Amino acid sequence: MQVKKAIIPAGGYGTRFLPATKAQPKEMLPVVDKPAIQYLIEEALASGIEDIIVVTYRGKNMIADHFDKAYELETELLKTGKLSKLEDVQKISEMTEICYVRQKQALGLGHAVYCARKFIGNEPFALMLPDDIVQATRPCISQLIDKFNRYQSPIIGVEIVPEDKVQLYGIVKGIEVEHRVLKIESLVEKPQPREAPSKLGIIGRYILHPCIFDVLKSTRPGLGGEVQLTDALLKLNEYQQLYAYIFEGTRYDVGDKLGYLKAVVELALQRDEFKEGLKKYLLEIGEKLKLDLT
Ligand code: UTP
Repeated sequence: MQVKKAIIPAGGYGTRFLPATKAQPKEMLPVVDKPAIQYLIEEALASGIEDIIVVTYRGKNMIADHFDKAYELETELLKTGKLSKLEDVQKISEMTEICYVRQKQALGLGHAVYCARKFIGNEPFALMLPDDIVQATRPCISQLIDKFNRYQSPIIGVEIVPEDKVQLYGIVKGIEVEHRVLKIESLVEKPQPREAPSKLGIIGRYILHPCIFDVLKSTRPGLGGEVQLTDALLKLNEYQQLYAYIFEGTRYDVGDKLGYLKAVVELALQRDEFKEGLKKYLLEIGEKLKLDLT
């Protein structure tokens, strides 16, 4: 069965990004000039996903507003002759229809995924976390769909993370079955570096079967009092083989302040309108930093 649906969980508090996220969803923070979540919607659509559900929370209405039609703004842009801006704004609401479900309590990622179960029905689906923006020649979720089509088993996007950062990730250990693909033997959520079974960190891209919902239903809160998706995947791996895929591309963790800053700089450097000016500025401050160090 083809992967045509995607869940984007956006119900978290975003505490790492406070105070910016006090009254604003972190998924709406602009990365250059687009909210982070728009990168994911574009990645999903470029990968053949047709139906998207975003799991939201109180105070996250701004996400739905962004993808809605903006009559007053469009009328104003038309009136003032800003036609290319008008086109940009219209494209966003015409991109796709997005469904929304509210997570009534922020009980963790596993719970957020569970909230979207009725929308998924009986089909395999993509799960995409808006903290991770991936720049790749081929969209990251499309790479995972390819591998899912081959193995017909749940598959998790992973990357090699620095040893001193393993405690920030779910970590998997597995046996390589082809270049970049591993059969998962074990998974652990945020291990201490000396207990980590590998340096393969789970990033926010998955292809899953709806049977994960049955497992999530009975998964008790784990680390941090939250229903952890990794705990459910660990249980699922007892009776269904899971795979990990080391995706091709560069990932930016925009849910983290430093990761966000890096994403803004690097993605702006890829844009013609900013490339030259920004490069010049970075070289200037690079020189200043060098002088400070000497
Ligand atoms: P995070 O672990 O990044 O949590 O969630 P968070 O609350 O968003 O951010 P921090 O860590 O406090 O800064 C990973 C993903 O799971 C979603 C988040 O929106 C994010 O996409 N999530 C998390 C939910 O949808 N609901 C939750 O209850 C928790």
